[in-house]
Parts: sequence; C-alpha cells; structure tokens
Amino acid sequence: MALRIDIRQDAEGAIRQAVDVLASAEPVALPTETVYGLAADATAAAAITRIYEAKGRPRFNPLICHMSDLAMAERYAVFDPVSRRLAEAFWPGPLTLVLPLRPGSDIHPLATAGLDTVGIRVPKGFAGDLIRAFGRPLAAPSANTSGKISATDADHVEADLGNRIRLILDAGPSDVGVESTIVKVENGEMRLLRPGGLAAADIERVAGQRLKRKRAASAAIEAPGMLASHYAPGASVRLDATDVAAGEALIRFGQHPVAGEKEAAIVLNLSPGGDLSEAAANLFAFMKRADASGAASIAFTTIPDEGLGEAINDRLRRAAAPRS
Ligand code: TXA
Ligand code: MG
Repeated sequence: MALRIDIRQDAEGAIRQAVDVLASAEPVALPTETVYGLAADATAAAAITRIYEAKGRPRFNPLICHMSDLAMAERYAVFDPVSRRLAEAFWPGPLTLVLPLRPGSDIHPLATAGLDTVGIRVPKGFAGDLIRAFGRPLAAPSANTSGKISATDADHVEADLGNRIRLILDAGPSDVGVESTIVKVENGEMRLLRPGGLAAADIERVAGQRLKRKRAASAAIEAPGMLASHYAPGASVRLDATDVAAGEALIRFGQHPVAGEKEAAIVLNLSPGGDLSEAAANLFAFMKRADASGAASIAFTTIPDEGLGEAINDRLRRAAAPRS
C-alpha cells in the first residue's frame, strides 16, 4: 500500500519524501487545484514508463508537463505572444498551453508521445512548490486508471492506484474539480483542445479574440484525452433527464423538478443554487457516489453550457458515450 502524507499537516515532510521518490524515477500522486495528478520526472524514461504502467494508459496519449513558473516553462518550450499573454494572466492556474518544444529540451519523448509540441501547465500551491524543490518538470496525467473518472481526493486515488504506487500526498478535495483547459495557439489563433477549469470566456477576454472550437467528429486524436468514452463510471449515463426511473441514480443541478425523484436509488445535487464552479468541484465525487449506490444508470438533469458548464458537459458527454 502507498504511504500517505497529509500536506496540510506536514508540507515540508511531504516535499522531502516526494523528492526522494521522484528522484528514484517513481511516480507520486499529488494534489493540484484541478484534480489529483500522478506525477513523475518528465525528463526520465523510466519514471514516465511507470506512470503509463500504473494508469494502464495508451502510450500515444501525451502527458501534461508541469512547471514551477513561466521562467521554467520558457526553458522547455517556445512561446508566441498570445500564449505568453495567457501564461502571464492565468499561471499558476488551470490552463494548459500546447507549445512547440524548445530544441535541445530534455523533456523525454515518452512524455510528449513523440510530438514536437509539449503541453505545459503551472499548477497552483503545493504542486508548484514541489516542482521548485525537485528542480525539474513533472509529467502528470490525472491520478486514475485510464478511462476512469479523475480523482478529486486522496481516498479516490488510494482506492484506485494505492497498490500500484509508493506515495500519495493528501490535500483534501480539489478546489476546481475538473481538469485544466487546454489551448493551442496556431498562427496567432487560439484553439480550444479541451474545455476545463478555466472558463473559455475568461481566456477570450484576456486574449481579445475568440477560441476556435474543434469540430466534434474530427478524426485524429489530436489530443485531448479524448477518445469518446472517457470519464466513465461503472453505471451507464443518461443526459438531459427530466425524469428518473425507479432504482436509477439522479444527479441534479439547480431547482428544476424531476419526475419520479422519490423512487431514485440516490439523489445528489451538484449545486442547489445553480453555481457552475460548485458543480464542477462536486462532479467527479458525485459520479462516484452515484456509481457506488449500485444503480445501473445515472440520470443527469441539463447543465447550462456556459462558464465551467462547458467543461462539465464535455465530461458528461464522454461519460455517456458508448463504451468500447
Ligand atoms: O488539470 C489537469 O490538466 C490534470 C492535472 C493533473 O494537471 N492533468 C490532466 O492530464 O488532465 P491528462 O493526462 O489526464 O490529460 C492531458 C491531456 C490529454 O488529453 C492529452 O492528449 C493532452 O493533454 N496533451 C498533452 N500534451 C499534448 C500535446 N503536446 N498536444 C496536444 N495535446 C496534448
Ligand atoms: Mg485524465
């Protein structure tokens, strides 16, 4: 079983132990403001291989490389003016920028899946402190078995990966609750590769231009982890529900009435007051609770597609997609 350290009680001890484990090319589960990450030295092949093994992740899916600050990021990637503006406005925070790798950078090709670009994010708080102490970028996908729901607290990580990794750092529930927003700037134009914990409208305001959305059916996995079925709970998922069947789980948003609620296996409300940030923070934990109720299906009521609702609806569509 993994050793577990609560960073709220012993941040220094956590950093010391984590640096030790990272230096021996092993991954560490660590809290970020979005979701928990499974982090390892982005410059070491053996370390990255262990991330892929622990997650059972396909190796053609590149990892986000986490940096302590913009200065560190500039050593590994080449910034265009729009990307730099976004980095200055939103780092540290839930924004990942896909950028050309700087020639001679020692990010290992296993972390970028051999691409000539790298996804970079500067996380808030403890994760940034750990990277500073370690001195090298950390490749970190979400700390969950590939295809499953991302972990938003240390118990979820332990239940899923506890017997495959050595160290879990605990900071309680993640603040944001969905993964970072991924943006790639090409010829000065911004493309949204994955909606996430930073609202698209905030990015557009700072950049003074619109984000181009990818067409849903584009063929290549141009990235974002995002083969149709992803974020899958065990139960099947049904969207835009206005009623719930007997024995089905119900996850609501706001105050609209839902027919049949009394017969539901479990009823959870992502945000009774209709706050999308609160809903995002609750999303993955509630999906797990609904799953644990034993219901064969989870019904979700409609969630507005604005602000963080865009990321929530993206994850829900993937959870509802046919499983392979
Ligand atoms: O909030 C987050 O982003 C969390 C925390 C731990 O930082 N991490 C996370 O990582 O969600 P992961 O591996 O689950 O998702 C990374 C996504 C993948 O969909 C991958 O395809 C995309 O980032 N990605 C990484 N590098 C890329 C690149 N060079 N080009 C395009 N997409 C890239
Ligand atoms: Mg993931």
